Amino acid sequence: MTSEKIQRVGVIGAGQMGAGIAEVCARAHVDVLVYEATRELAAAGRARILRSLDRGVSSGKITEREREQAAWRLRFTSDLGDFADRQLVVEAVIEDEKVKTEIFAELDKVVTDPNAVLASNTSSIPIMKLGMSTQQSNRVVGMHFFNPVPVLPLVELVTTLMTSPEVAERAESFARDVLGKEVVRSADRSGFIANALLVPYLLSAIRMVESGFASVEDIDKTISLGLAHPMGPLKLADLIGLDTVKAIADSMYEEFKEPLYSPPPLLLRMVEAGRLGKKSGHGFYKYPENGQSSGK
Ligand code: 3HC
Repeated sequence: MTSEKIQRVGVIGAGQMGAGIAEVCARAHVDVLVYEATRELAAAGRARILRSLDRGVSSGKITEREREQAAWRLRFTSDLGDFADRQLVVEAVIEDEKVKTEIFAELDKVVTDPNAVLASNTSSIPIMKLGMSTQQSNRVVGMHFFNPVPVLPLVELVTTLMTSPEVAERAESFARDVLGKEVVRSADRSGFIANALLVPYLLSAIRMVESGFASVEDIDKTISLGLAHPMGPLKLADLIGLDTVKAIADSMYEEFKEPLYSPPPLLLRMVEAGRLGKKSGHGFYKYPENGQSSGK
């Protein structure tokens, strides 16, 4: 296959994952076009990326000039039709199969290059379901990044029974050689490697709180101080977003019917109450404007 080096990337969605993916691509000197449904969401997405770039400058990771150049490489649109010239598109919208399949069906029509890679950052939806909503399932892969994307160096690459080896290699070499990420490969099973291990652990911690076994603070303290994890499971669930944790658990439960993947009632009630974690300002912890967590 004679496919050009990837220099034009599209990112669908500028929430915490989409913004992070767009940021790392722009920092890697790639032209990035970001889709958001409305001007307001696009403005919020741009502000999120600029804040993270500022953080990169203040922690000495990038220079002022690199910040400016990365910001210049980012454009926003509310028209998927603008993605026609993209060589790689990474979809990072909410964890909803219907929404994602509609986007893939549309992207498939819009992105003209037969060598283009259509990737999803889904945490748990089988990539085959997304691939089969297109006419060219050979160019569909999973590229699963980790939050915060600028900090965590891993991408899980997920190929389906239909993905062509050339497309998989193109996606892998972009993540590794252009973005500087480590790449692992997973079979197309809901949850892939990371969430298949992480989600039962997060749900078990939530069940522990629910049953009164231990407090939120003591569970997190045990894991961060006793097992040297950077954060405990409840703070991590807040960081991921409790609606996202629930959506991942639902997909994994649907695939495996494994009771450990079934979201516990406390998680359901918190999501219904709009206590979604850090992004809503309240989850297992409260988050004032500065992002530091405090007690429940
Ligand atoms: N953008 C850019 N840089 C950032 C950043 C961001 N959003 N957040 C943190 N950083 C940088 C900081 O500048 C700092 O750099 P330095 O050490 O060189 O100064 C470094 O990362 C550490 O940040 P802080 O000192 O501010 O804060 P902490 O030391 O408390 O680390 C953390 C914060 C990086 C979030 C760390 O607690 C951590 O790694 N936690 C675990 C996160 C995790 O497990 N993520 C995976 C979630 S699962 C997932 O995403 C998959 C999905 O499918 C669910």
